[in-house]
Amino acid sequence: MASISGILSKAGSKVCPMKWESGVYYLLDQRVLPESEIWLPCKTHKDVFYAIRDMVVRGAPAIGITAAFGMVLALKEGHGRHDMLDYFFSAGKYLKQARPTAVNLRWAVDRMQAAVARAGTNLLEIAEQEALAIWEEDVRANIEIGRLGGELLPETVGLLTHCNAGALATGGYGTALGVARGAVSLGRRVTVYADETRPWLQGARLTCWELLQDGISVVLNVDNASGLLMRTGRVTAVVVGADRIAANGDVANKIGTYNVAVLAKENSIPFYVAAPVSTLDVTTPSGKEIPIEERNPEEVMEIAGRRVAPEGAGAANPVFDITPWRYVTAIITEKGILTPPYEPAIAKAVPE
Ligand code: MRU
Repeated sequence: MASISGILSKAGSKVCPMKWESGVYYLLDQRVLPESEIWLPCKTHKDVFYAIRDMVVRGAPAIGITAAFGMVLALKEGHGRHDMLDYFFSAGKYLKQARPTAVNLRWAVDRMQAAVARAGTNLLEIAEQEALAIWEEDVRANIEIGRLGGELLPETVGLLTHCNAGALATGGYGTALGVARGAVSLGRRVTVYADETRPWLQGARLTCWELLQDGISVVLNVDNASGLLMRTGRVTAVVVGADRIAANGDVANKIGTYNVAVLAKENSIPFYVAAPVSTLDVTTPSGKEIPIEERNPEEVMEIAGRRVAPEGAGAANPVFDITPWRYVTAIITEKGILTPPYEPAIAKAVPE
């Protein structure tokens, strides 16, 4: 932990959504930010499952890191049982079901299982080291994404983002907001425009909060304003994160991302996707095969716990959408900037 907070503070960021202390995994409860800063302890892999499912932690890389620590906790729980490894592997199966769209969840569980399967002894120690490595690699990847993405931006930029793909959605620093942080470090004048992102308001609550923590200028807008902001020249580039990027470059991200991408093309504005290579899924050929999570319709019927729609109305609540690859100007990864044709570029970026 000391080294990760050291890496983050050297890069100029104070925000981190997780802690690992004395065998307990703590999450900054993102359901109640920015009013309250509450750290919730996870002591079992089931605590981790509920934290992911119930949005205590969210954002693809942060979900992956959290699942990795869930696997460490599962190994601890199983200690002394004759079926310890079976218990560990079934915990992995269980954790993968917490949310379906972010591929980082599956990726992190598979990586933890492979590390433990390879190790003959000291399983717990090896699992803990692997989870810490996943976390640290994510932070380092984000800083590199920020540097590469920052260089793509002009001297002065109005940078629209959707949802929260920031420090809070990752191990720290962020992907899309990592690009904003990287650009600021390079001396660019950056104003981030944050789509509020109904219904969970990740933009209003989380993106605004974390950018203010790091002293970065942020302007909140309702989701429906993005077209006008582009057309009138206040927004001059878009950067978003991703929950999964298929082999052909189609991008799954927070519902509404597709609308923003189409508007960006209409207004000749670059639309960048920032994501670590752990979000590239070469086993899924295109966006059509990516599972889209549908959450409880009540989330749409209510605002801040108060019902706004009349009884009897239905509600659709798909929480991600697919942006076809042809709308994506570039995918910014820690391994470099990928441009169309995406299929060979993605295949090359993904480690064997
Ligand atoms: O439902 P959420 O809040 O988990 O959705 C998060 C997003 O869509 C993020 O943009 C994505 O996970 C990328 S996070 C770096």
